[in-house]
Amino acid sequence: MCVVKMPSFDDILSAPTLFADRGVLSPHWVPDVLPFREKETTRIMTAVAPALAHERSRNLFIYGKTGTGKTCTVRKVMAEFEARKSSARSCYINCRMYNSRYRVIQKMAKDFVPELDRSGFGLNTLYEKMMEWISLDESAPTPKTGRRVVVVLDEVDMVRDLDELLYTLTRMNDELQAGSISIIGITNRLSFKDALDPRSKSSLCETEMVFTPYSPSQLREILARRTEMGFKKGVVEDSAINLAAAIAAQETGDARYALKLLLRAGEIADEKHRPHITHTEVEEARRSVDVDLAAETIATLPVHQQLVLLAVCNLSLEGQRYARLGGTPSNNQADGEHHLMSGEVYEEYSRLCRTYKKPKRSARWYREYLNDLEMLGLITTVESGRGMRGRTRLIRPGYSPEQMKKIIEKSAAIHGPDDAMPDLPEGKGGHSSLSKIDGQLSLGRSDGQVSNSKPAW
Ligand SMILES: Nc1ncnc2c1ncn2[C@@H]1O[C@H](COP(=O)(O)OP(=O)(O)OP(=O)(O)O)[C@@H](O)[C@H]1O
Ligand SMILES: [Mg+2]
Repeated sequence: MCVVKMPSFDDILSAPTLFADRGVLSPHWVPDVLPFREKETTRIMTAVAPALAHERSRNLFIYGKTGTGKTCTVRKVMAEFEARKSSARSCYINCRMYNSRYRVIQKMAKDFVPELDRSGFGLNTLYEKMMEWISLDESAPTPKTGRRVVVVLDEVDMVRDLDELLYTLTRMNDELQAGSISIIGITNRLSFKDALDPRSKSSLCETEMVFTPYSPSQLREILARRTEMGFKKGVVEDSAINLAAAIAAQETGDARYALKLLLRAGEIADEKHRPHITHTEVEEARRSVDVDLAAETIATLPVHQQLVLLAVCNLSLEGQRYARLGGTPSNNQADGEHHLMSGEVYEEYSRLCRTYKKPKRSARWYREYLNDLEMLGLITTVESGRGMRGRTRLIRPGYSPEQMKKIIEKSAAIHGPDDAMPDLPEGKGGHSSLSKIDGQLSLGRSDGQVSNSKPAW
């Protein structure tokens, strides 16, 4: 009998590795120097500097695609702001975690007034205590100056009741006799602004700035600097850095994705006991990172989007089986790609709702779910030409249906209780179903348009 020897911790810890310091490649590591963000850094510093001189700083709204350095640039500036040890204070809030008015105000209150670090205070109490704390600044030149506070709301589009939060913060400012609150809002999704109340919008977007995507050569330099610290000398070949930079630049100029590719390429080389990281490992890394990213997205989808996606997967897999048995599904395209018809996917979704005991949503919601899934790249859809039983939307999975099916079937969402949601009247709406309505995931429609056309399927 063959006995497989289990490794010990010593074996694992002493295994040869190409990494010098893996932590440097983690997305949470903030480098001391942020190349190509000098201009943005200066603008943010200029925007918040008045607070250090006992004056109100302007609100700032920062927009840019994912991985363009918004979070790390703002965090770096705010770290320097705090290091000045002035009476002005800042508070960084990740709204993915603190996603409602109450949670944001509670986090601010806890950060500024330590004795409020107990749960159970109502919004009014937190509001009053904050007002008191901001108005009273013993170190201010005159008692009437008050404190200057800068609140960073990162991923601000995730706040469910953003209008209410902005209203509360604006009201605080209006009511404060001394001191002020300024907001830095950060997002990678612009379309959410369309749903905001005009007053909230003008207060949040008092000053705006855009982080543009990195070019391939900028990504190459960012990667080269990290490589020097993260990997042993000479193990990463230029071809690896060039390819990782080119792939990430093709996507959205996303430095996080580029770093993830290099990190995974290093892990692959370690696992396979290869002495170098080349373009081959980066290619392999790309495949595995893409599946991981899709898995993360799918696992956090609300339940009905998962069920619609599962319906697409089931029917695609059925179609593949049928094709293997030599059949020709009626809706096969000339290019041999199997497209599903929107109506058959809705039928399968309805069947899955019965299986998983969820109340079926209307056709109107279903179309919104398709929009959401398409926006996330989990499916692709095209309108059929005329002649195919009227006009219909033809659907294809964006990733391997087997893998997506496995992820959904493991997800807690479809096995858990249903999320209550009002039904949409036919022909109304236009918001993504993932927007503020259900508050679980906040994605605006990419075009921000209201669609009243009624596709026939
Ligand atoms: N100029 C840069 N130099 C070095 N590293 C950078 C630079 N810009 C971004 N990075 C790195 O890329 C990763 C992503 O950056 P960051 O989190 O700031 O992006 P973001 O714009 O906030 O993205 P998202 O919109 O997805 O939140 C981080 O690991 C960060 O350290
Ligand atoms: Mg960010």
